[in-house]
Amino acid sequence: MKVQSTSGPSTSACVDPGLVPQNVLYTGARMPAIGLGTFGSDHASASEVAAAVEGAAAVGYRHFDCASVYGNESEIGYALEHVLQGQIKREQLWITSKLWNDKHGENDVIPSCKKSLADLRLKYLDLYLVHWPFPNFHPPGCDVTSRSKDSKPYIHAAFLKTWRKMEELVDLGLARHIGVSNRTIPKLKPLLRDVRIKPAVNEMELHPHFQQPELFEYVRANGMVPVGYCPIGSPGRPERDRTPEDTVPTQDPVIVKIAQRLGVHPAVVCIKWAIQRGQVPIPFSINRSHYLSNLQGAVSEPLSEGEMRAISAIDRNCRLIKGQVFLWKEGQTWEALWDLNGEITPP
Ligand SMILES: NC(=O)c1ccc[n+]([C@@H]2O[C@H](COP(=O)([O-])OP(=O)(O)OC[C@H]3O[C@@H](n4cnc5c(N)ncnc54)[C@H](OP(=O)(O)O)[C@@H]3O)[C@@H](O)[C@H]2O)c1
Repeated sequence: MKVQSTSGPSTSACVDPGLVPQNVLYTGARMPAIGLGTFGSDHASASEVAAAVEGAAAVGYRHFDCASVYGNESEIGYALEHVLQGQIKREQLWITSKLWNDKHGENDVIPSCKKSLADLRLKYLDLYLVHWPFPNFHPPGCDVTSRSKDSKPYIHAAFLKTWRKMEELVDLGLARHIGVSNRTIPKLKPLLRDVRIKPAVNEMELHPHFQQPELFEYVRANGMVPVGYCPIGSPGRPERDRTPEDTVPTQDPVIVKIAQRLGVHPAVVCIKWAIQRGQVPIPFSINRSHYLSNLQGAVSEPLSEGEMRAISAIDRNCRLIKGQVFLWKEGQTWEALWDLNGEITPP
């Protein structure tokens, strides 16, 4: 459910966080309907991303999407500490972090969350996600053809042991919510059947050229919020993460035409569409004018019904983040990771 708050005016240089729509989770907690992504990848250093976190908080962001594997949580922790020394209170922020694939072991989950908390200089997380369903490690920045010899398929019984530890994080008060990322319907179904504490969100790739309508509806119908990564189509991703078939949502004539009408960058149209559709976009930027305009897009006049319909018609089913490095068998293609046959791809 989406609620729109109405407190206070916004100025041109910043946005009143009270005006930013919020998504209500099944616990009743409210998550700001736009967050700042923090994966600097090859092009933004940890200190640049930390500076963006501080700058984004100053212009009105209250939601930050972090992860241990992004390699910048300790720098972001100092930025958050600085933010919290000002007018902003901890309970006004929404901080997400994620368990990396090499920490699915029963003895690794709680220490890994504690390490993120220590790095982020926080006492609790609002949301802790299992980053990928696969317990497969690969070095950051490696080529998509790299494979770890220890890679394993997804085994539900093994994952449940990881999830039990995630549930313990809620019991311990270290995470207010837990959730998953990169889950398909076949992997969500048995999880929802077997959990004690339900995932609050599925963080998944979502942009105008990859709308995942079936999964999007399934997530919402089961009381979870879809958080959308690469909401602009990740124009800054490294060459190694691109294929010739990839399309560019910000160059789509439908998006460009709406951007011209509004006098904004096409990226902002992608953000407006995402929020209006009901997903929570987490656009990355270290450029103040970009992250400010994305946030302004969240509070300005909505797209028309006709524009929303026109965007829903440009889905190209174009997955950009294919996840090849998590494959577990020789000769597989990336599609095996995404259960395209409607069942968990057999081991
Ligand atoms: N759960 C997962 O497995 C997963 C996977 C991938 C990503 N994520 C999360 O999702 C976040 C976003 O994904 P992403 O960074 O790949 O893609 P993205 O947000 O779609 O695209 C980010 C790029 O768009 C540019 N940009 C942002 N706002 C703009 C604007 N208003 N005008 C023009 N350009 C703009 C940024 O450049 P500038 O910096 O120059 O503005 C940056 O290069 C990540 O940071 C991470 O937190 C999660």
